[in-house]
Amino acid sequence: MNVLILGIDGYIGFPLALRFLSMGYNVYGADNFYTRRRVKAVGSDTAIPINTMDIRLKKIREKTGKSITFFKGNVSNPQFMYDIIKKSSPDVIVHLAEQRSAPYSMIGLRQAIETLDNNINSTMNLIYAVKDIKRDAHIIKLGTMGEYGTPNIDIPEGFFNIEYHGRRDYLPFPRSGQSWYHLSKVHDTNNLMLATKIWGLTVTDVMQGVVYGTRTEELNEYKMTTRFDIDETYGTVLNRFASQAVLGMPLTVYGAGNQKRGFLSLEDSITCLSLIAEHPEPENYNVINQFDEYYSLNYLAEKVKEKYEEIYNKDVEISHIDDPRIELDDHYYNPEHKKLYELGFKSRVKLDDEIYNIMNDLNENRLRLLRLKDSIMPRTFWKS
Ligand SMILES: NC(=O)c1ccc[n+]([C@@H]2O[C@H](COP(=O)([O-])OP(=O)(O)OC[C@H]3O[C@@H](n4cnc5c(N)ncnc54)[C@H](O)[C@@H]3O)[C@@H](O)[C@H]2O)c1
Repeated sequence: MNVLILGIDGYIGFPLALRFLSMGYNVYGADNFYTRRRVKAVGSDTAIPINTMDIRLKKIREKTGKSITFFKGNVSNPQFMYDIIKKSSPDVIVHLAEQRSAPYSMIGLRQAIETLDNNINSTMNLIYAVKDIKRDAHIIKLGTMGEYGTPNIDIPEGFFNIEYHGRRDYLPFPRSGQSWYHLSKVHDTNNLMLATKIWGLTVTDVMQGVVYGTRTEELNEYKMTTRFDIDETYGTVLNRFASQAVLGMPLTVYGAGNQKRGFLSLEDSITCLSLIAEHPEPENYNVINQFDEYYSLNYLAEKVKEKYEEIYNKDVEISHIDDPRIELDDHYYNPEHKKLYELGFKSRVKLDDEIYNIMNDLNENRLRLLRLKDSIMPRTFWKS
């Protein structure tokens, strides 16, 4: 089976490529190193060092005896997208290649337009290239649980039964993104849904929760690393809390801290994506909510504090600061997530174990982490 990963140089893309190789697939990948450049442009860097793509590919060849075919280029350029679909003739395409930071999209007009352009164009290019060249390819597109927002009712997997003024229908669940980034994903969702309806494409739209962690089975086995961002723009909450603990800083919880979100470890994220790759629903638009558990920010801060104090025997402080985002900081949250379990998913890495791994890996890179310390506190405010 030929698998093409768009965004193969990223946090999820690189370990996913190693997983697909170990499953015996022919792996192709594309990237233009956008995230490497953007994280540096906001004054930070990956807290865990990563190799260049050339060295990554060489190490993979040495360690596995297998090769990945890499295409360097921009997937929001239609010509590039058509070329790589032709050259790789993929059975499965995992589309991860988007601007993935909500705060980055809220810095100003340029960043908002850049996010919408990059994300919507790349998905539109993919839709048209697949329709024209490889119509039976299974598109696995990474969306986010943030597309749904935090409604005061349960969140289904994509669609729900609704009765209104005495009539019933089965409709897409309302999306309510809270940044331009989230809205770019909502537009992708609508575009993919329409394309499936018109041309009978095979699409799995993955509403993914927040991913945490530094390790996967293959990264451990080959002694390789994936990027790990801790700054206010690209770093996600658990990764930032762990860095603050290691740096001896207070863990800064935004607002009241009762914001709840779905989470899963990096190992579980790539396990889910590889399971989905093996279970296409031909000519169907399928939505999967991909997370393991949901937690509040307060719970996560307490967990990191507890783990750090237990392992390193040093006190950790938790402080609440003004929320830079516009979001409810105390709300109902009950998203459904049955489909992955029906496909056979079992979580292999739990929060406590992965917090331990993250702290260990950050401690090993303490000097590097110290240099990035100033990038952790919020500088991007939704209101300004
Ligand atoms: N990491 C998370 O917690 C999380 C949660 C929910 C959804 N997602 C989604 O999953 C996907 C992957 O996330 P990630 O954390 O691995 O992000 P990442 O930024 O580390 O990886 C994305 C990769 O795509 C590349 N890329 C971006 N635009 C490109 C373009 N136009 N052409 C070629 N390459 C391009 C980047 O250089 C990067 O290597 C994203 O779409 C993200 O929105 C991530």
